[in-house]
Amino acid sequence: MKTFPFIYNQPKEFLKFLQPGDWADFLLGEINPRFSVTTVKAKVIAVREETADAKTLVLKPNWLWKGFVSGQHVPVTIEIAGRRVTRFYSLSSFPGEKYLSITVKRQAGGLVSNFINQNIKKGDLLELGEPSGEFVLPKVLPSKILFLAGGSGITPIHSILKQLQANQFKGKVTLLYFVRSYEDIILHSSLEEIVKAAGFLEIRYIFSDVPREGFDSGFLTKEILQKYTDDIKSYSVYVCGPGPMQTKALSLLEGNEVKSELFLLPGQSQLKVKKTGTVDVFLSLSHKTIQVKGERSLLEELEDQGIYPPSGCRMGICHTCVCKKSAGSVTDLSKGEVSELGEENIQICISRAESNLELEL
Ligand code: FES
Repeated sequence: MKTFPFIYNQPKEFLKFLQPGDWADFLLGEINPRFSVTTVKAKVIAVREETADAKTLVLKPNWLWKGFVSGQHVPVTIEIAGRRVTRFYSLSSFPGEKYLSITVKRQAGGLVSNFINQNIKKGDLLELGEPSGEFVLPKVLPSKILFLAGGSGITPIHSILKQLQANQFKGKVTLLYFVRSYEDIILHSSLEEIVKAAGFLEIRYIFSDVPREGFDSGFLTKEILQKYTDDIKSYSVYVCGPGPMQTKALSLLEGNEVKSELFLLPGQSQLKVKKTGTVDVFLSLSHKTIQVKGERSLLEELEDQGIYPPSGCRMGICHTCVCKKSAGSVTDLSKGEVSELGEENIQICISRAESNLELEL
């Protein structure tokens, strides 16, 4: 809460705070922390354990929440050690439900996913942004749909399945869910409930690490696709999972209509190129020069040095991290393309320094 010494300690912030919206938020927040006229705040009303390393947060948003479409993701902002951090999570609930849900799996080294799993409890408040994303069903539904999910990539697919169930979908849906082991199946009981209640869904769990009798094991292959689909070309395909699974799916499904959503694990998108030495990055707004190794994204290398530019998804989707590069060359890690030396806007979460740089930060 903003208190009296705030006026002296942070005069710039105080001036900003004089905006009418901030005042209203301040006063409303005194009545109920969820109340706001500027920000979607959501109260955690339940926390459900899905697996040993994944939890579902059930959220009650305030009146500013405008809804979402099944399959979309939402920016979630929380404060960790005095620093506001934002990450994107798919909504695992569907729009017809009274409350929203996000399901978050811990990622090795993931600041926010670990914090949520360890610390967020009933009664806490999260800040939500506007939902977005194209991983949604078309208006005219196909008659046959194949979902390929990997790990926590099940979350938007779960939302879509619930929506199809609510719409009493009359077509056929096959879900191939690739996961390490039986115990790692996220949203397991809910998925089984959909299978029981709705006649359209067939689910096959495929375990990559711990085989189980009666189930397939391994990764996505042509044989698995052939085993569980009849005439693959007749399906609309939706893929959500880690990069290698998506690449494989796209290569096996050439000629199919495929929609995909990428779930990146920390470090997964980055081309690890061994470099020697450092490059200078001049931050023109703060008149500071720092040295980076050019081994990871600029965002990560700046954060390592205590500089925290705005960021959101950290995977090249939301554009929150866009900043002007006035000089120098970077590699776009999502495409592997090296930029020209001149002025352009870059996404620093997916850009790696190739030369000395000047950034408008
Ligand atoms: S943080 Fe979302 S695009 Fe960079």
